[in-house]
Amino acid sequence: MGHPVLWRPAGPVTDPAAAEIRRLAADMIETMDDAGGTGLAAPQVHVALRVVVFRVGAARAGEGGQAVPTTVLINPGIVVLGDETETAWEGCLSVPGLTGPVTRPAHIGYSGWGLDGSWIEREARGFHARVVQHECDHLDGILYPARMADVSALGFVEELRRAAQQGETA
Ligand code: NI
Repeated sequence: MGHPVLWRPAGPVTDPAAAEIRRLAADMIETMDDAGGTGLAAPQVHVALRVVVFRVGAARAGEGGQAVPTTVLINPGIVVLGDETETAWEGCLSVPGLTGPVTRPAHIGYSGWGLDGSWIEREARGFHARVVQHECDHLDGILYPARMADVSALGFVEELRRAAQQGETA
């Protein structure tokens, strides 16, 4: 957080099937896995292009949630479906150590190009919908603290964990 590339809108990819985009996506997936993240956007590796990668493991999908295989989405678009919103704690590899509650639409549709030039169109709910919105926000220069209704709820994961433990033993 603080690097200018994270604040400005990223530009569209002109050729989703280009070798350099495939290399970028592979690099992003490796970075996401090394950091134990569930998603990553190209500006987070200092490339100002509209590319996101994400996956939703079965454990993170929650009960009744959707597990989603590793997905590369190029020039993605999102439409909000319905009025329902959900609030949940988010973190970000570009805002290390911190976490905060963010309210987002609970049900979305999203689309974009895959690496093989295919058109991807999906519906998403819950954690899956949240990850896609968080990553696509990066493409518009938006970090999750800017989506928080109450920024004073932002905290270090370690401190919040400690406070929660002390609360239990007090
Ligand atoms: Ni992020």
